[in-house]
Formats: sequence, structure tokens, C-alpha cells
Amino acid sequence: MSHKFPDNFLWGASISAHQTEGAYKSDGKGLTVQDTRIRDNHEIANFTVASDHYHHYKKDIQLLAELSVKVFRFSISWARIFPQGRKEVNQAGIDHYQNVIDECLTHNIKPMITLNHFDLPQVLEDIGGWSNRKTVDAFKEYAQTVFKAYGNKVKYWLTINEPNIMLLVDQKILGKQIPIKEKYQQFHHLMMAEKYAFKFCHELVENGQIGPVPNISLVYPATSKPLDNQAALYFNSVRNWAYLDFSCFGRYNTVFKDYLKQKNISITFSPEDETVMKENFPDFIAMNFYTTMTVEKPMDKNNMSEGISDQQSEDIMDWGFYKGVTNPYLKKNQFNWTIDPDGFKTTLQTLYDRYHLPIIITENGLGAKDDLTEDKKIHDPYRIDYLKQHLEQALEAIEAGVDLFGYSPWSAIDLISVHEGISKRYGFIYVDRTEKELKQLRRYKKDSFYWYQKLIQTNKIPA
Ligand code: BG6
Repeated sequence: MSHKFPDNFLWGASISAHQTEGAYKSDGKGLTVQDTRIRDNHEIANFTVASDHYHHYKKDIQLLAELSVKVFRFSISWARIFPQGRKEVNQAGIDHYQNVIDECLTHNIKPMITLNHFDLPQVLEDIGGWSNRKTVDAFKEYAQTVFKAYGNKVKYWLTINEPNIMLLVDQKILGKQIPIKEKYQQFHHLMMAEKYAFKFCHELVENGQIGPVPNISLVYPATSKPLDNQAALYFNSVRNWAYLDFSCFGRYNTVFKDYLKQKNISITFSPEDETVMKENFPDFIAMNFYTTMTVEKPMDKNNMSEGISDQQSEDIMDWGFYKGVTNPYLKKNQFNWTIDPDGFKTTLQTLYDRYHLPIIITENGLGAKDDLTEDKKIHDPYRIDYLKQHLEQALEAIEAGVDLFGYSPWSAIDLISVHEGISKRYGFIYVDRTEKELKQLRRYKKDSFYWYQKLIQTNKIPA
């Protein structure tokens, strides 16, 4: 074995619009659920400016070119294109992303665009958000508009970021709190919106390729007790496979259907759903991976509140089905997320064997508190270590036969973490601001930047 990544391996780096752009009201943009979200522990993290990528995109892409990435994953803010969610196109929004795309192409970087990353236009949230079928119609209009506008230049597309997480996490992140029964109807609408994205991409983008972008965490049983294994089966199904089975096979799986039945939840299908879901499929799977999860069968209902508060934490409980527990064999990061590189390989193998589609990693990385030294350096050996361990396993997965064609970690530049504000940094590029102080928003290259650059240039994990 050469222990090198394949020659044409697609090295990249990822971000999303609402976590980086700022300029939340500039040039005609409408508000999104992220702009109006009520924040708790990090209200002060200034989302209205974020990393000010909107005004720094040239500099940021220049730095990414220096990093040597081949692909840049970013999302389009739907509300920049349609401030009212649909109907009236905002030309300034179209032009902005045209400029971003052109800047990427000038530097020989392929854009990989996520259609929507957690930032539904607020006007659509006001009519019920994804609970209302009209939001699917609005999404169809939006998706067709961007495919037509950018399809001649952009060949890699991603649908909607992590609907499986949108289903599970506390809805404060994504809009208002809704009853569980309604959540599954929302989920179905998200799934149908995705199916239309597959359809329109294939119809409108010549040689376009599109994939779903779920957050996949393999779920382990806490012990070898048969009931713990059953708990893992259900959580694996609800968290991971319900979503991808629908995308890739055009059906919900039986474990998921049984889960819904036991919870007395039914999903309403529209007349055209059956045809659209069975005729439109992805070209590849984009996978976001941070950790794995471990569950047991819950036996004692006392002192347990149902739900999940943080997408990757073990603080999860669904009475009758599963309850998250600490995995004693795994270490955790500063923010209590479990680190499991071996689980990364297993997840890749499981995913590939289940769907037999090419895979690209579109998120993986370590959120940490970084320090900017007086001489403007950022020493982040912990991040290098995390990436190294995961890439070693990715390489093993490739050598074991998994068709992994790219790796685009989280994140290109520091951004506002969904749960923790700017203090939890992921970037290769440091953005100089704090929660309270915007400073000059200057960019500095972290040690991990140079490490990743060497990796890309040699196609080999640096020793
Ligand atoms: C992913 C999301 O699930 O998790 C990203 O797609 C997010 O938007 C990432 O930033 C890490 O989560 P957090 O809460 O640390 O920002």
C-alpha cells in the first residue's frame, strides 16, 4: 500500500452562509430564522457580522488557494436570492454569489454549494416553515433559480444540510419549538424538497452532480444486552438511515416506520410524492461526521426529559426506545463531544456498504478555544491531532474499498458555532474577533493551516 490518497482526491474546506457571511441586512437580503433566533448562552456572538465573509470573500478565497484546496463548500443564503422566500428575485444576491463563484474559479477551486444550511427565510417560517407544504413549493422555485443562475459554472451541489439533525435537535436552533408529531411532517417535507433538488439539478445543470448532506454518527449499544442492541437499532434508524434510505432508495425503512407507528405519528404524503421520491436519486453522498453515539434501552423514566439538546451530545432520551450514555472507551473534546476516529472508519464502511455511492466528507473537525499569541500565531496541535487521526482512518477505509473521493473539513475560516458562538473555533484560518469585540476581523493562518497545506500538496498525511 502506498499510504497516499488517490491522485485526484478532492481536498477542500467548508463553511455555511449564516455562520460566516454577516451583512445580514445588506443589499436587499431578507431575514432568516438564524437572524431572528433567540440565543441563550452566546447571545453576544454577533451573528449580524459573523466572520464578515460577505465583505472578505476575496481575501478568504485567496487564502484557500494558498491552502491548495481543490473544492470550497459554502452555502447560499436563500433570503439573499429571495428576500420574501419566493417570487421576487434580488439581483444583488444573485450577483454576490456569482462573484464568489468566479473568484473560486479564478483560483482553480471548484465551488460545492449547499442549497440551504439551517437558514430558512423568516417569511417562510412565519407561514409555518417546513410544516407548511408551501415551503416545499418555495424551495422548488429557489432551487430552480440557483441551478439556472450558476449551473453553467458549478457542478457539485448539496441539498439541505442535515435534515436528520434538524429533526432531532432542540428547535430553538432552527425556528420555533414544535410538537414531535409535526416534526416528522416537517421531515417529510424536507425530504421531498431534497428529491426536487435532485430532479432539478439533473434537468438543469449539465453534468451536474448532487448529493444529500446528512450528519452521520454510528450508534453503538452500551452493552451486549439484547435490549441495548435494540435501542441502537432504533436510534441508528431514526438518526441515520431513515434519512438516507429515503434519499437513496426512495422509501422509509421498516424500523423507522415501526418507530412512527409506536409513537402514533403519521406522515401525510401529497399525490405527486410517490412518483417524485421513487424517480430521483443522488449521485453521491456528502457526509458530515464529528463523533459516534452510544445508547442503552431506557428503563427508568424518572428525572429524564425527552429530546436532545445538542446534536452530538449524549444528552438524548426517547422513552421506550433509546437513551444516550457515556462511552467509557472514548475521549471527549473541550465541548464534551466524543472523539472516535475508529468509528469514523466503521461509519464510512457501513455507509458505503449500505448505499454503494461515492462519498465525500463535507464536515469533520475540532471545535476548540484557540489563542492568538502576541506574535499573531495560533498553535493548534489538538486540531492537527484530531484531523490526523480521522484522516488515517479515512485512508484505511479507502484501502478497504470505500469509494471516498474527497474530504472537505469544517471549517475553512473561523465561524460562529451553532451552539457556542465564536469561542468555539473550527477554522484553518483564524478570524480575529471575540464574542463582544469585532476588532478588525483580520485573518491569520493557524499551525493547522500549514499542516493541511502540506497534506494536500503531498497527498500524504504529514508525519
Ligand atoms: C454541523 C453543522 O452539524 O455541526 C454546522 O452543519 C455546525 O453548521 C457543526 O457548525 C458544528 O456544530 P457547532 O455547534 O459546534 O457549531
